[in-house]
Amino acid sequence: MSEHSVIIDCDPGQDDAIAVLLALASPEFEVLGITTVAGNVPLSLTSLNARKVRELAGRPDVPVFAGADRPLKRALMTAEEVHGKTGLDGIVLPDPRLALDPRHAADFIVEAVMARPAGAVTLVPVAPLTNIALALKKEPTLAKRLRGIVLMGGAIGLGNVTPATEFNIHVDPEAADIVFKSGAALTMLGLDVTHQAISTPARVAAIRNLGTPLGRTVAAWLDFYNRHDSERYGTEGGPLHDPCAVAYVLWPELFQGKFCHVAVETEGKFTAGHTLVEWWAPKRRPPLGSPNCTVIAKIDHETFFRRLIERLGRL
Ligand code: RIB
Ligand code: CA
Repeated sequence: MSEHSVIIDCDPGQDDAIAVLLALASPEFEVLGITTVAGNVPLSLTSLNARKVRELAGRPDVPVFAGADRPLKRALMTAEEVHGKTGLDGIVLPDPRLALDPRHAADFIVEAVMARPAGAVTLVPVAPLTNIALALKKEPTLAKRLRGIVLMGGAIGLGNVTPATEFNIHVDPEAADIVFKSGAALTMLGLDVTHQAISTPARVAAIRNLGTPLGRTVAAWLDFYNRHDSERYGTEGGPLHDPCAVAYVLWPELFQGKFCHVAVETEGKFTAGHTLVEWWAPKRRPPLGSPNCTVIAKIDHETFFRRLIERLGRL
């Protein structure tokens, strides 16, 4: 009996792809579906990539649903400079055989959650939050029916698009605002923690040394993905953002965080998409708001990578 019924909402993206593989490799998970959104690359490509990853993992049983092709209000911003033109540069995978499920991602999320007992389903969005916001607007009771939302996005400190904004929130601030005000049980894994999870050459080699086609594929993705962030951040490799969110659901004991108030800026000229995290309790002023989110700030990255690599070896 799986411990977690999850829906992964993603914009593959090499790190999204590895997050999906970790979820599909984990017996603790019943992956109800994979939903895709425009983000790293346009929706047509994130959906194609999700279908490729599903088949790479040998999981034709898991449906894939396409969602929003643009943010709620703003023009789409993509990140080909990080992920390549296809969104999964590094290696060419065969075209997928299985089609998308025809339902919209937001409709599937509502149907899947409302068809199960309250507290059964966890959403794991690792992309702009457009689909999640659409589902929350479509079904007003959804937020309280969920077990929780464990998202990769935001930052306590510096952003990666601007100094104030992280990509997933920057792309669709209005959607993120809806999610953070929804009343759902939220956990945020932002850049502060994901930048502790660096896919170093030794870790990429360990994945390649799995000696499987999947291991070689993931290593090739990381070889491509690491080049941009290593140069930008002066690190040995790129931060492996999205698998951190899946790992939190699997192994929360590897993480440390704090229940805080988080607000999303939607109007600032320079700061729209900023996650304002009230980490320190105010002394001389009233709090900005009541705590609404567990903000994660630390990861045991050695154990995380050891377990991630072991799980990838199972596929
Ligand atoms: O800022 C990192 C996030 O943006 C990750 O989810 C990555 O896949 C991109 O979507
Ligand atoms: Ca992503």
